[in-house]
Amino acid sequence: MKVRASLCLGLAQPWETREIEIDEPHAHEVTVSMSYAGMCHSDEHLRTGDIAATPEILEMFGLSSMFPVIGGHEGAGIIEAVGPEVSGFAPGDHVAMSFIPSCGTCHWCASGRQHLCDLGMYTLCGPMFSDFTWRHHFEGTPCNRMTQLGTFSEKIVVNEASLIKIDPEASLKAAALISCGISTGFGSAVDRAKVAPGEVVVVIGAGGVGSGAIQGARLAGASAVVALDRDQFKVERAMTIGATHGSTDWLETAFLVAELTQGRQADVVILTPSVLTGDLIAPACQMGSKDARIVATAIAPVAQRDVQLDLFTLAMYNQTLMGTVFGSVSPKLQVPRLLKLYAEGKLLIDELITNEYSLEEVQQGYEDLEAGRNVRGLVDFSR
Ligand SMILES: NC(=O)c1ccc[n+]([C@@H]2O[C@H](COP(=O)([O-])OP(=O)(O)OC[C@H]3O[C@@H](n4cnc5c(N)ncnc54)[C@H](O)[C@@H]3O)[C@@H](O)[C@H]2O)c1
Ligand SMILES: [Zn+2]
Ligand SMILES: [Zn+2]
Repeated sequence: MKVRASLCLGLAQPWETREIEIDEPHAHEVTVSMSYAGMCHSDEHLRTGDIAATPEILEMFGLSSMFPVIGGHEGAGIIEAVGPEVSGFAPGDHVAMSFIPSCGTCHWCASGRQHLCDLGMYTLCGPMFSDFTWRHHFEGTPCNRMTQLGTFSEKIVVNEASLIKIDPEASLKAAALISCGISTGFGSAVDRAKVAPGEVVVVIGAGGVGSGAIQGARLAGASAVVALDRDQFKVERAMTIGATHGSTDWLETAFLVAELTQGRQADVVILTPSVLTGDLIAPACQMGSKDARIVATAIAPVAQRDVQLDLFTLAMYNQTLMGTVFGSVSPKLQVPRLLKLYAEGKLLIDELITNEYSLEEVQQGYEDLEAGRNVRGLVDFSR
């Protein structure tokens, strides 16, 4: 079947909407008709090469490059067809996509940590992990998909392990945004840092992921949530969803945190800027108190190795520096849970959708993100 999809054809090339060919779903696979796709920064990391497979991984799949690749990993849609041996899904089901598949049986899934499922190893590039053959083709060559998804496509073929069934009454628009960025940020605060009532939280980078972290901190009962973003517009938006204080300046934020806590500093610092670099860790730790949890959520370029860190203070302040993938909680638990909070009016999502685009406008959406015009851009497939 021929469908339109937004592709990146080579390193640093723009997103282009082109016609691709997709095959019928094989065993354990499903065809989804996309309703909405969110525009997370991670797709940009793929386009710029921050996210890249090693030559060994490329060789394993017979690939010479990560490109062409269908972009997009946030999304929600309606199941159109199911392949053989699919038991949990039927045509007509509403689903959200998860950039981390969960098999349910590996060591990590069996111990309740589906966000660490071993299937995650196939999400950089390559064919369907169902049977290691390709379902997506562009001009006769196999086509990679962002994290085994590629949600910037009218229809996608995915393994059932990458899908989360949602209530048919739930908002597909909200589900698309919750499917990665909001869940990751929310989980960074609630599930990873385990923010407790009365704590002081700093969120650095108030884009889509940061907006999830700010709201997670608010709902966990933080007494103060300080948003730091280089864009004034993001800081202002953050103040409408739960940030109690905001600034565009790191030094000003450091003084603000010191003042707010009588010099004790913040209990939790969450790093959600567009790109994580080694020079951001030390200033983030400096904003942390004794016993602080510092959460590195943002993605760094794959070759980034050097980090500036005051190791003496890390130890003597008893601080914890932690990473997180998907906010350290099972996607199948988090997405329905956050959709419920959205339906109850406790989690704000509509306020974060700054611009909506057609599939043809994905490149424009990422230019708007780069220019600081988007908290979250959304592809609406009905446009
Ligand atoms: N760990 C995970 O599982 C996971 C999941 C999703 C996204 N991510 C990553 O999280 C990061 C944030 O994603 P997003 O979609 O919200 O990105 P975004 O670009 O929408 O938001 C990032 C925000 O950070 C601000 N910013 C950038 N550099 C800054 C700096 N030095 N100081 C202050 N503010 C700064 C930007 O103005 C922007 O508002 C990205 O790196 C993304 O790839 C990680
Ligand atoms: Zn994402
Ligand atoms: Zn698993």
